[in-house]
Amino acid sequence: MSQNKDYKRILVTSALPYANGPIHIGHMAGVYIPSDTYVRYQRLRHRDVIHICGSDEHGVAITMRARKEGTTPKAIIDKYHELNKKAFEDFGISFDIYSRTSNDMHTITASEIFKKLYDEHKFIEKTSKQYFDEEAKQFLADRYITGTCPHCGNPNAYGDQCEKCGTSLDPTDLIEPKSAISGSKPVLKETKHWYMPLDQYQQFLEKWILEDHKNWKTNVYGQCKSWLDQGLQPRAVSRDLDWGIPLPIEEGEGKVLYVWFDAPIGYISFTKELTPDWEKYWKSEDTKLVHFIGKDNIVFHCIVFPSILKAEGTYILPDNVPGNEFLNLENDKISTSRNWAVWLHEYNQDFPGKQDVLRYVLTANAPETKDNDFTWKDFQQRNNSELVAVLGNFVNRSLVLTAKYFDNIVPQPGELTEADKNALAQIATIKADTENSIEAYRFREALNNAMGLGRLGNKYITEQEPWKVAKTDMERVKTILYVNLQITTAIATILEPFLPHSCEKLKGFLNIENLCEWDEVGTKELIAPGHKLNKSALLFEPITDEVVQGQIDKLNATKVANQKANFKAVPAKENISFDEFMKADIRTATILSAEKVAKTTKLLKLTVDTGIDQRTVVSGIAEHYDPAKIVGTKILMIANLEPRKIKGIESKGMILCAVGADGSYHFCSPDADIENGCEVK
Ligand code: 2FM
Ligand code: ZN
Repeated sequence: MSQNKDYKRILVTSALPYANGPIHIGHMAGVYIPSDTYVRYQRLRHRDVIHICGSDEHGVAITMRARKEGTTPKAIIDKYHELNKKAFEDFGISFDIYSRTSNDMHTITASEIFKKLYDEHKFIEKTSKQYFDEEAKQFLADRYITGTCPHCGNPNAYGDQCEKCGTSLDPTDLIEPKSAISGSKPVLKETKHWYMPLDQYQQFLEKWILEDHKNWKTNVYGQCKSWLDQGLQPRAVSRDLDWGIPLPIEEGEGKVLYVWFDAPIGYISFTKELTPDWEKYWKSEDTKLVHFIGKDNIVFHCIVFPSILKAEGTYILPDNVPGNEFLNLENDKISTSRNWAVWLHEYNQDFPGKQDVLRYVLTANAPETKDNDFTWKDFQQRNNSELVAVLGNFVNRSLVLTAKYFDNIVPQPGELTEADKNALAQIATIKADTENSIEAYRFREALNNAMGLGRLGNKYITEQEPWKVAKTDMERVKTILYVNLQITTAIATILEPFLPHSCEKLKGFLNIENLCEWDEVGTKELIAPGHKLNKSALLFEPITDEVVQGQIDKLNATKVANQKANFKAVPAKENISFDEFMKADIRTATILSAEKVAKTTKLLKLTVDTGIDQRTVVSGIAEHYDPAKIVGTKILMIANLEPRKIKGIESKGMILCAVGADGSYHFCSPDADIENGCEVK
């Protein structure tokens, strides 16, 4: 199987994010942290590896965003390309190139490939009827048509999908279709397009994926199998759109390449920009090509793009396509349009110098086999009890004790005990396990393996208690700290792909910079007696409750803003007669006292002055009002509601509140301090 092949070089690509919004933690966990970890590891092993990425700047995603922000597609791609490029840099994702699909090199490369396939009759041509907006004088992309979903009746379904019931749709399925551009009713009009006849590649793909790549991740393999089992259909590779790469053929005037035709070719054009030696990476069977992607990209990278490359004939195909599932945020789907995300550029601002914490948490909790959830509490907990309490604690104890007892010089060990030998022997095992997991794209497992060094060190130092031994046997302390420092040096190397910033710092403390080679770990002494260490500091710091609460508050504010933006008044209730209304006795009253009803979260027991009497009312406002603060408030209440027993308390009446879009309660109060008992008419 291909995984055993002896490759000479590695070409890693990370899915090109659309330049229509900022990068968030879902992108990071799914694609960019695993790919960066993989590439950093390969570099440490001195393998010839390059990492290619950049902005995906074509397609409807961009034009939709421009329309939403009231600007041009060009302004959108410029804005988000710069924002995302910088955010990746600040975070420390080490691409060899981060380019953009609006560059000339890309237009040339994508056009050449299209033209070659066109000239060699690898496409089929089809004329079909598609919706056209006669006012805007343009064909409408599926996303630009809205209408009623034939399945669930949602009046705001899109031409490609109903987001309410999740059904995939064809624009012609929509009841009463409407153009999102002009609002007019679109008409069906004939248009010609070029299609990649995927059905002709079915047999090839079945062998290449289902037989030759059984080692692909189960979720990726499973999705491919299901596409293949359904039978592949031709897919259009051109679009009627005014944003994209113009079709490089005369009869294609006014049309552009489909974004999913041009975007993956970006991997090739960016490699060309990076190195004149690009063909070595793309056209040699000695190259291992690996595409890191999210699960929504599987079909394009495993079926469509390989068919295009196969048809072209001179390119290699991927050896693996490690695709991840999705990350949720605080139990809700991450969404750019709802602003429900932790944005990378904001994380960089809010947590300067803490890139490794997010790298750690998103790897430890990576959605490798199923969707996972990110919570700020878990972020805090993993930092405080794993990075600080295990890894940081061990490293710090080793360095501080070496400074204290041996003036920062690595001590000469005496004879090694079984425990010492055992600890040192484990370094090699842990390293081998980490390598195997990374090579198999199992990064959670790899990190857990590598963290085994921290656990090993912590256990060793706790059992050996050098601070106690120091009172009686300084020679033995030398050996213990020597062993500690070997483990610490191994940590600085083996954890580097996962925690590059912290390991760089640690190498600085150890004064080894590039002295320790990955390949040497577990095979020899890593740091020699007599070597002078530098002054050290804490590697990780605890994250406080306040910091975490600040982030949770930010998300809560987003939730409220979304609820307000989406608020729609519910339809009016059935009419009542004037006489019926007059039966309700609504009065002004003042709250005299308020207290929580024991063992409930929602209820307050109020005493109110109704002008008629003083009485008790139980009201479900405890989550909205502090009892101490509402005494003296003038409110409106229904004074003639039949008394009811609530939690054993007799409640006589009901306080009137307006309920906001976010579920918040607000007293209805008269606009002047009038007497209690005044009637509301
Ligand atoms: O899903 C996305 O965000 C796409 N922009 C990914 C493109 S990957 C590649 F093929 F370019
Ligand atoms: Zn629906």
